[in-house]
Amino acid sequence: MSKYQIAVVGCAENSVRSDDPMMSSDPRIELVERLFSGTGSTYDHIVNLCTAGIDRRWKRQILSRLPSRPKRVMDLAAGTGILTFAIARRFPDCHVMGVELRAEYLDIARARAAREKLDNVELILARAEDVRLSEPVDAVTSSYLAKYADLPRLACTMYEMLRPGGLVITHDFTYPAMPVLAGAWELYFKILQSVGSRRYPQWRAIFDELPDLIRQTTWVPDLVSALKTQGFTDIGCESLTLKGSGLVTAKKIS
Ligand SMILES: C[S@@+](CC[C@H](N)C(=O)[O-])C[C@H]1O[C@@H](n2cnc3c(N)ncnc32)[C@H](O)[C@@H]1O
Repeated sequence: MSKYQIAVVGCAENSVRSDDPMMSSDPRIELVERLFSGTGSTYDHIVNLCTAGIDRRWKRQILSRLPSRPKRVMDLAAGTGILTFAIARRFPDCHVMGVELRAEYLDIARARAAREKLDNVELILARAEDVRLSEPVDAVTSSYLAKYADLPRLACTMYEMLRPGGLVITHDFTYPAMPVLAGAWELYFKILQSVGSRRYPQWRAIFDELPDLIRQTTWVPDLVSALKTQGFTDIGCESLTLKGSGLVTAKKIS
C-alpha cells in the first residue's frame, strides 16, 4: 500500500498520481526529499534565521487573508506546522488540517500538537496535489509549496476541496526583479552557501540549490493560469518585502 493518502483525481489527467508506481520517480518528489532530508529538527530555527524573522511577517499576511470565522482550513505542505499552528491558535473553533509529504516533518508537527495540546489540528501525511477530504474547507493555505508543486493538479485539488466562496491563499519565494535587490539577494545566498553550510551542513543542498530554483520558478504566472483554467475568480497577486516573496489569492465561485 502507498504510504501516502490515495486520491481519486478527477481533473488532472496529465499528471502522475500518488498511487501510480511512477510517483516515486516524480522529479518533484525526489527533489523535495533530497533537499529536506535531515533538516526537520532545525527547520524552525533556520527559516527564522535565514529570513531575518521576515517569515513571521509573511505568515501574518497569510493569516490576515483568511475569512473572519473559518470552520475548516487546509494548510498544504505544513512542514513542522508553523503556519498550521498559527491558524489553529488564531481560530480555536476552526478545524485545521495540515497536509505534509514527508514523515520527518510531520512527526515534528505531531509532537508539537501534543505539546501545545491543540485539539483543533489534524496532521495528514499526503501529497498536496492528491489529498482529498471528506468535507469541504473554507480556505486552502500554503507557504513555500508552489515552486515544488504540479500546479494544474494542485489547482484542481484546491477547487475540489473548497466550498463555494472558499479562498486560496498561496505564498512562496520570488526572485527580486530590481537589479540592486537581486544583487543583494545573490550575495546573501553566497554567504549562506559558505558560512551557512559550514555551520549547518544538513542544509547544504538547500543553500546550494534554492537560489536556482527561485531564479527559475514561474510559479506566480503558472498558478494564476492554473487557477483561471480551473474556474477560480477574484485572482490577486501581491509582492511582499522588496519582492522577495509573492502571495496569490483566489476564490471559488459562490
Ligand atoms: C520549506 S517547507 C515549508 C513548511 C511550512 N509551510 C512553513 O511555511 O514553514 C516546505 C515543505 O513542503 C513540503 N512539500 C513539498 N512538496 C510537497 C507536496 N507536493 N505535498 C505536500 N508537501 C510538500 C516539504 O516536505 C516541506 O516540508
